[in-house]
Amino acid sequence: MFIRTHHCNQLREEHVGQTVTLAGWVNAYRDHGAGLIFVDLRDREGLTQLVFDTEDSSQDVLDAADKIRNEDVIKATGVVRRRAGTPNPKLATGKVEVVVTTIEVLSKPDQLPFIPTDEENLPGEELRLRYRYLDLRRTKMQKIIRTRHRVTKVARDYFDAQGFTEIETPILCKSTPEGARDFVVPSRLQPGEWYALPQSPQLFKQILMVAGCEKYLQICRCFRDEDPRADRQAEFTQIDCEMSFVDRDNVMETMEGFVRTVWKAILGYEVPPVQRMTYHEAMDRYGIDRPDTRFGLEIADISDLAAKTDFGVFTDALAKRRGVVRCIRVPGGADKLTRKMTDAYGEFVKQFGAGGVPVVKYTANGFETGVARFLEPIKDELAKRLGLEPGDTVLFGADAYGTCVKAMGELRLRLGRDLKLIPEGQWNFLWVVDFPMFEYHEEDGRFYAMHHPFTAPNPDQVGAFLAAREDDRDTIESIVSAGYDMVVNGSEIGGGSIRIHRKEVQERVFTLLGISKEEAAEKFSFLLDALRFGAPPHGGIAFGLDRLVMHLCGTDNIRDVIPFPKTQTGADLMSGAPGMVSDAQMKELHVKSTWEPA
Ligand code: AMO
Repeated sequence: MFIRTHHCNQLREEHVGQTVTLAGWVNAYRDHGAGLIFVDLRDREGLTQLVFDTEDSSQDVLDAADKIRNEDVIKATGVVRRRAGTPNPKLATGKVEVVVTTIEVLSKPDQLPFIPTDEENLPGEELRLRYRYLDLRRTKMQKIIRTRHRVTKVARDYFDAQGFTEIETPILCKSTPEGARDFVVPSRLQPGEWYALPQSPQLFKQILMVAGCEKYLQICRCFRDEDPRADRQAEFTQIDCEMSFVDRDNVMETMEGFVRTVWKAILGYEVPPVQRMTYHEAMDRYGIDRPDTRFGLEIADISDLAAKTDFGVFTDALAKRRGVVRCIRVPGGADKLTRKMTDAYGEFVKQFGAGGVPVVKYTANGFETGVARFLEPIKDELAKRLGLEPGDTVLFGADAYGTCVKAMGELRLRLGRDLKLIPEGQWNFLWVVDFPMFEYHEEDGRFYAMHHPFTAPNPDQVGAFLAAREDDRDTIESIVSAGYDMVVNGSEIGGGSIRIHRKEVQERVFTLLGISKEEAAEKFSFLLDALRFGAPPHGGIAFGLDRLVMHLCGTDNIRDVIPFPKTQTGADLMSGAPGMVSDAQMKELHVKSTWEPA
């Protein structure tokens, strides 16, 4: 026998007359005087109305009911009856109530720091994180927890049906280079040596392919010591996959099927075939490698026209290496964008390295205000190219390509938000493909892997890649990888690639990335060895589970979908992690701290 006979979202008219026992938290109570008390009892399933009255409940029960307060944990036995008052159409149990004959208070809370059910008056997130168990009692949070469970269940079922095997990989590892900082753990048994927590199981899953497992799945924790953001935590979860004997399309099809299954199962939404866009197109049109295609305001290239003007901002930009001039046409912007807003945009783009945002209005008389006079030589061509209508505003960016498109891309997103152009309830899925293999960083004059160093070049470029001289920056920058990111509504929910399965290609990538033979041998000899001993062609992807759940639950705060998340400073406010360890522990681990309290 369980403590209760039913949960709080179960009773209907068909139960009228039955004696039932419910248990849960007091969600609300209303004392109508003259011995009539109503209590809404809550468990994770829902609410049921309990009634205490002089006719049906004994004096003892009435006395106990009188002392009940919000969030008391109680058990109540009574008889189900049709509601004496008006039914509540908002509640599944709204046609019935339970007239209580026995009540037991299972737990009486102290003064609560906040009432979790009082959504209107919730305290700030810090207090809610400190008392996370109260915060998680909220219906919204319960729903998220269960949606998260359902997403992982759908994932396991889907991939199982596709022949994937779930395989665990170590948490105490050697560093895997995903481009972030490692969390490290000192080894007690090997003085001076450290484990790294996995940034992802990337190398292990590739090794599992060499081991003949063919289709691997893991819902795994990853650790990256980077500053948290709205959609980024240092400790997060991936739905991680790898497949053998596949090409890029095979992986993408399988993964599209997964996303389709999840959206259908959770939201009943049919994801249409996912469009593909190349990285270059994404950068050109949207200024970002994860475009939000739910609204227009695309970026236009007008470098050729800008070259015909004497406008210093344009001509200086065009004189730079890969200098460009781009612009965004804002339909009806003359009315919608105030001077204050456009001034603020000028400041806004500075954080992305741009100098400012020249602005012009287009009227029935042609260009006016702002930089109108500089556009004189190109006024007709520009108006035609952009399809301008009177009342439009045009915002310009002029700089080296990377800086210019980044700033315009960020500006576009800001305009989308400011002008409320982003529709609710719409799902725009997109594959971004053909990323460059390498990105050159001017600051330190070297190449970085755009995805990670194990991503293969597109099959038709392997020859060119192996033949390219290391100082031939243009050729190396033109090598495109066999990688793919899945984007929904401007958010990257997954990323992966076909991997290098030939040792000489892998070694060449390491060389280009400035990883010496010794360093490669020290860090990745197991991978290079494995590639020597019969590696199948393989590729895979990892979805960010937290991000999937964020989208499916309609929240833009990653902490909402993680039961016990960390704050901006990496703290778990409930348990108090991170904390100090004792000197004895440090000694045992062969570690000395150089940190001194201020
Ligand atoms: P990547 O680094 O692109 O690829 O990560 C895959 C996906 O994981 C999610 N993600 C994160 N979510 C929350 N917080 C973070 N800090 C965070 N970082 C990443 C994103 C991202 O698309 N090993 C490769 C995958 C592969 O090549 O198969 C990898 O980890 O949704």
